[in-house]
Amino acid sequence: MSLAAIDRTTSNTAGNSGGDWPPSWQSAPHGIRVGRYIDPAFAKLEFEKMWTRVWQVAARLDEIPEAGDYTVYNIGDQSVMLVRVDADTVKAYHNFCPHRGTALAQGCGNFEKKRIVCPFHGWRWNLAGQNQLVLEREEFRGGELRDSDVALRELKSAVFAGFVFINLDSKCGSFDDYIAPVRHWIEDLAIGDMHHYWWKSLSVPANWKVAQEAFFEAYHVSATHPQLEKVGRDIVYGDRVGGDLAYRNVQYESLPLGHARFYGGNKTPMAGHLQEPTGDPLEEMAERLSLIADGMDAMVLKEDVEVLRSLRGRPIPEGSNLGAEYVRALYATAAEQQRPMPKLEPETLGMWGGEIFLFPNFLILPQAGNTEMYRSRPDGDDPNRCIFEIYSAKTYPAAVRPPRATVEHVTDFDDPEQLLLIPRQDLSNIPRIQQGLRSRGMRQTWLAANQEQIILNMHRELDRHLQA
Ligand code: FES
Ligand SMILES: [Fe+2]
Repeated sequence: MSLAAIDRTTSNTAGNSGGDWPPSWQSAPHGIRVGRYIDPAFAKLEFEKMWTRVWQVAARLDEIPEAGDYTVYNIGDQSVMLVRVDADTVKAYHNFCPHRGTALAQGCGNFEKKRIVCPFHGWRWNLAGQNQLVLEREEFRGGELRDSDVALRELKSAVFAGFVFINLDSKCGSFDDYIAPVRHWIEDLAIGDMHHYWWKSLSVPANWKVAQEAFFEAYHVSATHPQLEKVGRDIVYGDRVGGDLAYRNVQYESLPLGHARFYGGNKTPMAGHLQEPTGDPLEEMAERLSLIADGMDAMVLKEDVEVLRSLRGRPIPEGSNLGAEYVRALYATAAEQQRPMPKLEPETLGMWGGEIFLFPNFLILPQAGNTEMYRSRPDGDDPNRCIFEIYSAKTYPAAVRPPRATVEHVTDFDDPEQLLLIPRQDLSNIPRIQQGLRSRGMRQTWLAANQEQIILNMHRELDRHLQA
């Protein structure tokens, strides 16, 4: 047996402390062992010790805007039903009927007459989870069936910034403690004022961590999205040997509890920085932003590029620059439309084009009143598959009623009708990463100390859960 094969051997140590773990489950500062991405026993441990005990995003409020609306969130073999009780109240219930187990809800919809009715024998509850009907009740428990026997089982939930978070562990820590390290950025960026624009779900042949780690750094931009990084493209695909890589300016920050963020620093188009400009700065910046608007339809939208183009021919005031004038114009347009915008201060503006990561699996990529978001989670108990979702959200003018969030299922990652260029480029790599990680020649990944630090930070927090 080769050394690699020995290292990759798994044992039935699930539940033991990390010291007893097989080598293939270790994470070290320089890299992550492959067992963490491919071993069914590791995936089982993640489910028992992490997924069933952590706060996680179960839904956006846009999925359940009206009283009686429901949506279902599945994680592993667990199913949770989220119900809008009234304008101010959302409840999360374990999705089962106390009679014989039938899942009470599937997908999303509205409980007619605000009554939750089991389709099997018709037991019924109100939206607050109290039983209203047990047909032939006297037949059960000698006629002594108590209300508590048949109430819906609620689980812990919290509404924050337009998200519904849940925790399957009744003894979990507080949501406030969990969200504290990232709370102020999410609030200042107006994520809670943003509503559904589009939402796609993909069944991806890759571990849930592989899929999300593909969005944890800008290091991949030169090779994966060469249209966004001219200098990097020429180094990777041409014969150029060096230059001012735009993505080298990204700042990474590992935060407590596995959360993290990265941000653009000073050299972003928004701050007026253009990579090796050759022509008219405004036209080059508009072209650069159009690559995002056309390639993602998120973060930068076509209407934002139009705002920039409306500045054509206008002189830039003394002491200002193109980026600052663009920001000023965006806020003026938003004010006219009575559209909420992020807080206008340097730290918040610095997050535009950056990313906030909420452990264990949610990414927010904020911009000027728009955001793209990603959620990655295991698909059942298969370590080689995940459900990966992409959300685009934005603030709407006061006069416009935001649409209800509905999901589209992407069936072909190569189809430009279903996925735009930038996610298509990312998704073209993700299944290939999983394929490579399963190779018997592959033992561990190598991590860049700065640019890939968020990956290590996430694995460390994962270990903290798994070894608890
Ligand atoms: S299983 Fe639900 S009413 Fe019988
Ligand atoms: Fe990417």
